[in-house]
Amino acid sequence: MKKIMAGNWKMYKTAAQAGETAAALASILSNKVPSDREVLILPPFTAIDAVAQAFAGQKGFAVGGQNCYPEHEGAFTGEVSPDMLLDLGCAYVLVGHSERRHVLGESNELCGRKTAFAHQAGLKVILCVGETLAERESGALEKIIAGQLESGLAGLPPSFDPERVAVAYEPVWAIGTGKVAGPEEILQVHKFIRQSLLSLRPAEAAAMRILYGGSVKPDNASRIIGLDNVDGVLVGGASLQADNFSRIVLA
Ligand code: PGA
Repeated sequence: MKKIMAGNWKMYKTAAQAGETAAALASILSNKVPSDREVLILPPFTAIDAVAQAFAGQKGFAVGGQNCYPEHEGAFTGEVSPDMLLDLGCAYVLVGHSERRHVLGESNELCGRKTAFAHQAGLKVILCVGETLAERESGALEKIIAGQLESGLAGLPPSFDPERVAVAYEPVWAIGTGKVAGPEEILQVHKFIRQSLLSLRPAEAAAMRILYGGSVKPDNASRIIGLDNVDGVLVGGASLQADNFSRIVLA
């Protein structure tokens, strides 16, 4: 099972800037991506094509969407379907990133529909979960994450390829704040996620990947990636520059 080293570019970079950064990444990491890791870049929709072109023919690189809508096509102004992402060369899609849940108001139920639909359409899905600081401090962490996982995975077929559905644990209070969760916190929550997956999807749980995200940087990446039940990282700010992100990929 390869670890996923994912860079979420959020609403940053024009197509030209994204193509440039992706080309720089491909050149720095050319033939250097360890065989047990894969590099995934999640650009804004408008830059997916530029990144896919920069990665064409490079081994170990993939492109994905940051979001999708759970229909093939239709009157859904402003939305993009999994089919459209596949058409541009995407292999992955993020579902339920905390900014979608908290800024755009996406519910657990909608995230579940997106996960099931994108999986069915042929994309690999990374379902994001995570608690706010208030939820953690009120002792609701496990309840929140269990609810996000249960609804998030509810629509998947009775059996599925576990390599095509991953979970990213991103504590909301650690995203973009410079406050990374400590090793004990990460270990504890990733173990809880693995146990929850085992009870929700016993046949697939052991082989599903669980990524950590939230202020991952070149100087903390190797400590995080080496922890039990950490099968990759989801990096925002530190993925925007090719040299920083390459150091994380190789950490
Ligand atoms: P960050 O963002 O690395 O800037 O904290 C992570 C994310 O939102 O995926």
